[in-house]
Amino acid sequence: MNIKKEIIFLSTELHKHNYLYYMLDKPEISDYEFDKMMKKLEDLEFKFPQFKDPNSPSQRVGSLLNNSFNSVNHNFPMYSLENSYSKDELIKWKDRLVKILKTEKISFSCELKLDGVSVSVSYKKGNLSQGLTRGDGVSGDDVTENIKTINTIPLKTLTKVEYDFDVRGEVIIEKTDFVKLNERKIKNSEEPYKNPRNTASGSIKLVSSKEVRKRPLKCYFFQIVSENNPFNTQSESLNALKDLGFNVSNSHKYCKNIDEVFEFISYWYKQKENLNFEIDGIVVKVNSFSMQKHLGFTSKFPRWAIAYKFQTEQAITKLVDIDFQVGRTGAITPVANLEPVLLNGTVVKRASLHNEDQIDKLDLYQNDTLTVEKGGEIIPKIVSVDYRLRNLKSKKISFIKNCPACGSLLFKNDDEAQHYCLNSKGCYPQIVSRFKHFISRKGMNIDGFGTETIERLLKKDIIKNFDDIYNLKVSQLVGLERMAQKSAENLVFAIYNSKAQPYHKVLYSLGIRHVGETVSKRLASHFTTINDLINASYEDILNVDEIGEKIAMSLKQYFNETKNLDLLKKLNDLGLNFSQNKSEKKGTSLNKLSFVITGTFEKISRDSLKNIILNNGGKVVSSISSKAIIISGRNPGPSKISKAKDLKIQTLSLEDFINSYNINF
Ligand code: IVH
Repeated sequence: MNIKKEIIFLSTELHKHNYLYYMLDKPEISDYEFDKMMKKLEDLEFKFPQFKDPNSPSQRVGSLLNNSFNSVNHNFPMYSLENSYSKDELIKWKDRLVKILKTEKISFSCELKLDGVSVSVSYKKGNLSQGLTRGDGVSGDDVTENIKTINTIPLKTLTKVEYDFDVRGEVIIEKTDFVKLNERKIKNSEEPYKNPRNTASGSIKLVSSKEVRKRPLKCYFFQIVSENNPFNTQSESLNALKDLGFNVSNSHKYCKNIDEVFEFISYWYKQKENLNFEIDGIVVKVNSFSMQKHLGFTSKFPRWAIAYKFQTEQAITKLVDIDFQVGRTGAITPVANLEPVLLNGTVVKRASLHNEDQIDKLDLYQNDTLTVEKGGEIIPKIVSVDYRLRNLKSKKISFIKNCPACGSLLFKNDDEAQHYCLNSKGCYPQIVSRFKHFISRKGMNIDGFGTETIERLLKKDIIKNFDDIYNLKVSQLVGLERMAQKSAENLVFAIYNSKAQPYHKVLYSLGIRHVGETVSKRLASHFTTINDLINASYEDILNVDEIGEKIAMSLKQYFNETKNLDLLKKLNDLGLNFSQNKSEKKGTSLNKLSFVITGTFEKISRDSLKNIILNNGGKVVSSISSKAIIISGRNPGPSKISKAKDLKIQTLSLEDFINSYNINF
């Protein structure tokens, strides 16, 4: 292949895989293969710059100082939207449309109003040519290089487009990405970002596009503007944009009348908290482009569209008292108990107060009258206190000095807002929470082990530490309240089965402070055995990508305690995974045997069964051959069973399988 052709081939492949990964969430190649291809393209482009396309996939990586932010005129002005806050206002808007258009038959496109920063991106013959901020609506800042780093903005359309067009969209940061971004900030002892909207809008104007690339920005498109717009309606154009490879939210809806618009609004008003991005309302647009043309614009707004803004709902209630909750790590969280009040359709009885600073800021007194608010967050917050209604005899709320559970004196570091109970060994709620964390889905994933069972076993002194879980006998469990023989057997089986959990999950389940899911994964892939991690120095740990001082310190503290090392040894002897390289721990009882799994099992998930087979040196295959052994559960595949009969292959139940092989976890 000649160089030019090879560059074109690699670019086309990389554009395709970017789309499969970021837009369809269906990657076909590994990150490693993607990076390898990108490296090859970058090398070729470096050696043969004459063949480099300005919209090459390599342009997504950005550079250090490349933005000058020239002010550039928009091809079409960027109008803003008129706001409305009630059904009445929307009906008045619709009546105005009816008057101008002289028809009642008006249909609408309803869309979510994403709360981020708006951008206008121009395409020439399907190639991204420019990206501008809104600016004053007439001209905006040229942020093309930053725009190119955002994976959900295509550098080229999926199919050829002969006409030039602009697309308008909203650049946002999703809620889960925002949380992760701030976790990283906090870990590096930096001030966290205030909210996703401001962070997105700050990010799009950064001088270094390499820095923009690091921010988890996404863009959702909602409008095409072109002199040669070939579409008849807004709904049709949104679908066409999606087909061209643009990221269009799936939640837009064609509404044939204003009543359907109201239904859409009510639906999303209730559902908005379940979205992974923030919305501040709904945009209602006249669907027909010819009607839009007829309606035209005022000096500020299009007449054919309006925003219906959601207001953050507030309610007034009274403070009943404050609970101080003790978390797994001993952190104390004050929670306000409120007189029940209806807010956003749900009855609110509690509000989190986070820490002492929050109580001081609000200057809370007993029985105070409060305004509570439910915004983006699930847990409502207290926004203000009506001091005028305060009873003069009421007492000021002060933070507790001793742990509400065990009475130990609380401790607070000067640089942290949180108070802690340091009696980790003897403070009951901390002990229960540690067990809950250990058995949780993200940890050892032991099904059927409820909090009540843990509490009963703790109270009877049957379990004191995590290793005791693995020595539990059916007979001990059957003696507990509400635990029948069958549930006890299932629980013992689930405990046994949990030994197949991988190393990073075991690490997570230990509940070491600051060692969450992501950190555990990172540590496990760097220090591939627990001994490597135990023996690592503070500096060695700090050298791991994204691992900061707090985590390193916490790990060193944990491994410095003999009782923790004793526990790790016991868990290791019991067969839990303490190394990344499974082969080290692999049993060999199923060596070279192939298994076909069919049907479902009451006691075990198919994935766990697969893990057991793999961890014992066996193979899991999907098609039946004379060499395979079948493990059959409930509702097995009929074709598999009949093929097995034809080939006279051994078919085992789960129990047969467990009993026939000497499985070593
Ligand atoms: S249409 C002339 N549709 O809201 C049409 N805007 O307050 C103007 N926005 O500047 C925009 N989601 O940044 C439209 N589905 C949507 C939108 C949307 C968010 C933003 C956009 C606009 C602002 C107006």
